Amino acid sequence: MLDKLIRKKGGESKAGNAEHPELDETMIPRHVAIIMDGNGRWAKKRSLPRIAGHHEGMKTVRKITREADRLGIKVLTLYAFSTENWKRPKPEVEFLMRLPEEFLGTYLPELVERNVRVRMIGDHAHLPMHTRRAITKAMEATAENDGLILNFAMNYGSRAEITEAVRSIAKAVAENRMSAEDIDESLITGALMTAELPEPDLLIRTSGEVRLSNFMLWQLAYTEFWFTETLWPDFDESRLQEAIAVYQARNRRYGGVDKEDTD
Ligand code: FPP
Repeated sequence: MLDKLIRKKGGESKAGNAEHPELDETMIPRHVAIIMDGNGRWAKKRSLPRIAGHHEGMKTVRKITREADRLGIKVLTLYAFSTENWKRPKPEVEFLMRLPEEFLGTYLPELVERNVRVRMIGDHAHLPMHTRRAITKAMEATAENDGLILNFAMNYGSRAEITEAVRSIAKAVAENRMSAEDIDESLITGALMTAELPEPDLLIRTSGEVRLSNFMLWQLAYTEFWFTETLWPDFDESRLQEAIAVYQARNRRYGGVDKEDTD
């Protein structure tokens, strides 16, 4: 099936590799967003504690960041902790809150070297101090980088994000800084935490679950979705390439019709 998706033959390109057909370099999604799911099941299958799955998942974050950079993706948003994940057992939450520290403690030099810029969306203020410190340090250390944006959604919930945007707009109207007639889609887009980012072109969710779980509800309006049974710790370069190949074969019409279908 993937054979059909071959766009170019021969010659190594930035986007291609030996295992997969070459991807069309001109159609690499600018922004890929991933709901990283299945860490717990990965661990359970091996009779390991759930946190072992999260730790393995952290290694996949490194692998996929490198591959996204190699492929020329501009923004990689990873759903690392939702506003609903606080409901998990305390030791699991504490472990998840330590992961940014471990990840950035180990890989920050590599991210700096690769010109990656670390960003975060979500409620920063209510994260534990050590988590906040690790993320702030990484954001500061990479602030001048202009390569791949590695955007962690951490303590993120889309409804909370939209609610906050509505509140800030309502306040501006109440204070006569703008009128209700000035409110349009671009104003709302600009009031979200993703204001400076392009909308995701491709959303990936691993582990066979087919739902959005309060992730980027506004931003995903015209995004292409790709779901895989692969559990996040098993997700790899080859799966990412497969997702992009499927994306490249899709026909994005944004609510319009193809030229040849106009009569
Ligand atoms: C969902 O799997 C996964 C999470 C809630 C955590 C995702 C976090 C990582 C992959 C590591 C993040 C790394 C950094 C550097 C922040 P699940 O536990 O719900 O899996 P299950 O559905 O199989 O139980």
